[in-house]
Amino acid sequence: RLTQESPLYGLLSMATQFYQQSLKQHPARQAAVDYLKKRGISPQMVQAFALGFAPPGWDNLHKLVQADQAKQQSLIEAGLLVHNEGSGKRYDRFRDRLMFPIRDHSGRVIGFGGRVLGDDKPKYLNSPETALFHKSHELYGLYELRQKPGKLDEILVVEGYLDVIALAQAGLCNAVATLGTATSEQHIKRLLRLAPSILFCFDGDSAGRKAAWRALEAALPALFDGKRTRFLFLPDGEDPDSLVRLEGADAFRARIEEQSLSLTDYFFSRLQQEVNLSSLEGKAQLVNLALPLLQKIPSASLQVLMRQRLAQLSGLALEQLNQLAQPNLPAK
Ligand code: CTP
Ligand code: MN
Ligand code: MN
Ligand code: MN
Ligand code: MN
Repeated sequence: RLTQESPLYGLLSMATQFYQQSLKQHPARQAAVDYLKKRGISPQMVQAFALGFAPPGWDNLHKLVQADQAKQQSLIEAGLLVHNEGSGKRYDRFRDRLMFPIRDHSGRVIGFGGRVLGDDKPKYLNSPETALFHKSHELYGLYELRQKPGKLDEILVVEGYLDVIALAQAGLCNAVATLGTATSEQHIKRLLRLAPSILFCFDGDSAGRKAAWRALEAALPALFDGKRTRFLFLPDGEDPDSLVRLEGADAFRARIEEQSLSLTDYFFSRLQQEVNLSSLEGKAQLVNLALPLLQKIPSASLQVLMRQRLAQLSGLALEQLNQLAQPNLPAK
């Protein structure tokens, strides 16, 4: 093989083991153990997701590479040590946090998320962008999900690490999370190569509802024939973690089957909320909002059906709508 292995992989793996080991035997581990218990995370999940603990203190990781300048430099490049330009000091980025290793498609750790054990801010700290870690490309839980044998009918996209883990613990082993970024077209195309369907299941709060509409916009160019996306909106204040704990896996599955909205239903119901369809102006506005979005859909049959629906809602004939969709080229 001619591929050159980055030295960062080895150090990220070393750090993963250090954090895992610290969760098992560091003198300060009890706070992390108690926190896992409070969140209801089982030892099996700790193992499956390689969870760890970054102990309190500025130089736990730093000490391990003190004698080796090259390794120190690599740990900085891996985002685990921070180099303060002013003082010249180097210190651990992650301190006193529960650690979630983020793995790439082949299982190598490329970054971390770290959660405080209480209510301090910021609640989550993630690795910075590095040569190996690109937040807008990766999905938390994707490697773990692909370890399961069998056919994948649908992938759930959720917001957080703990949503992925709580669902997996409840037996819903098909969830992934974006890493504190919006769901991108790239994420969606990647997932739709692995399964024919995506279910977006974001938090029942205004950030979650915003994320759902952004996910819809990102999904449109990925809607090839045979691919679909759906949306599940959760009750106010709940996220997949809190809800699956509250009502259990069967109720959560029932919710998915009974309450998911197809992309088309969500699309039209959301746009209809934004305009006043009893006026012509409102109907025109609906057409103006909807048409440019529909034109992004590569599935010709789906696009035609959605145009038909838009024609019904706006009162335009389909031919007129199609003419609007293909405006004459501007006059020279
Ligand atoms: N997130 C992040 N950085 C932040 C805040 C959030 O990366 N500063 C990510 C985390 O993966 C988090 C997800 O976005 O789980 C959703 O955020 P939020 O709903 O605010 O997290 P909570 O559900 O409140 O977190 P937890 O359940 O851990 O208390
Ligand atoms: Mn990758
Ligand atoms: Mn939220
Ligand atoms: Mn949440
Ligand atoms: Mn949560």
